[in-house]
Amino acid sequence: MSHKIETVVFPVAGMGTRFLPATKAVPKEMLPVVDKPLIQWAVEEAAAAGCTRFVFVTSPEKGAFMNHFGDAPHYRETLQARGKTAELELLQAGLPANAEIIETFQDDPLGLGHAIWCAREATGDKPFAVILPDDMVQHTTGCLAQMTAQYAATGGNLVAVENVPADQTHRYGVLDPGVETGALVEVKGLVEKPAPENAPSTLAIIGRYILAPEIMDTLSAFKKGAGGEIQITDAMAELIGTVPMNGFRFEGTRYDCGNRDGFLEANLAFSLIEGGAALKQRLRPLLD
Ligand code: G1P
Repeated sequence: MSHKIETVVFPVAGMGTRFLPATKAVPKEMLPVVDKPLIQWAVEEAAAAGCTRFVFVTSPEKGAFMNHFGDAPHYRETLQARGKTAELELLQAGLPANAEIIETFQDDPLGLGHAIWCAREATGDKPFAVILPDDMVQHTTGCLAQMTAQYAATGGNLVAVENVPADQTHRYGVLDPGVETGALVEVKGLVEKPAPENAPSTLAIIGRYILAPEIMDTLSAFKKGAGGEIQITDAMAELIGTVPMNGFRFEGTRYDCGNRDGFLEANLAFSLIEGGAALKQRLRPLLD
């Protein structure tokens, strides 16, 4: 089977209630980190990893994604008439020239596993990537590109992992780790959102996955797990022994933009890269 990852799925149907009122009319994934919405950072990371098919699992109320990634004739024509080539480039919103965009709807909020299952027609019989745009990773080589480079050797299911504080395991899918080889961690089992006393380790999944196509059959059983939701973690756990299952210790700093502090931290961290020493100097009195 080819291990080339062409398709990436973005589960973005959620309501983003933690960011109300900002997310009443604007989807959470459209909130900007510096000058790009979260979803565009995710799309650019996938494009840098070689993906060309971008699948948005969304809801009918969230038309903003198609507006953002689709053609904008009013903008395009005005910018063309004014000869603003740099700004015209920005209208591409991070998509490669050969990009294929697919929108599919998740009608009920039945969980992350269900959202991924909603993309089954687009993913077909090939392995595919999943990015949760809430999780941002800052590194010169994007997290997904680091993973696709490993995938030829592993195949199966591959998840990005990092150690989290022991009292935070209830927020993540957590690994029961086996042998470690370089950045790869063999996975013997997986538990979704365990209480610290039940967690098999502190090695947690962050929002990057490369999944074998077999996952769709497993998900189609609609088994409910933690929180009464259909969990991708449970479906991957079920496939252990059938397809290879590995964790990947990525390089870079990860920001949890699903909560306000993490989102602000990401904005500061990414701003400082662009703003450099001058911005740092202006921020220092605020931080002190
Ligand atoms: C989801 C997954 C979880 C994973 C996390 C990463 O949880 O279910 O396994 O560790 O993303 O951010 P959620 O954040 O949607 O509750």
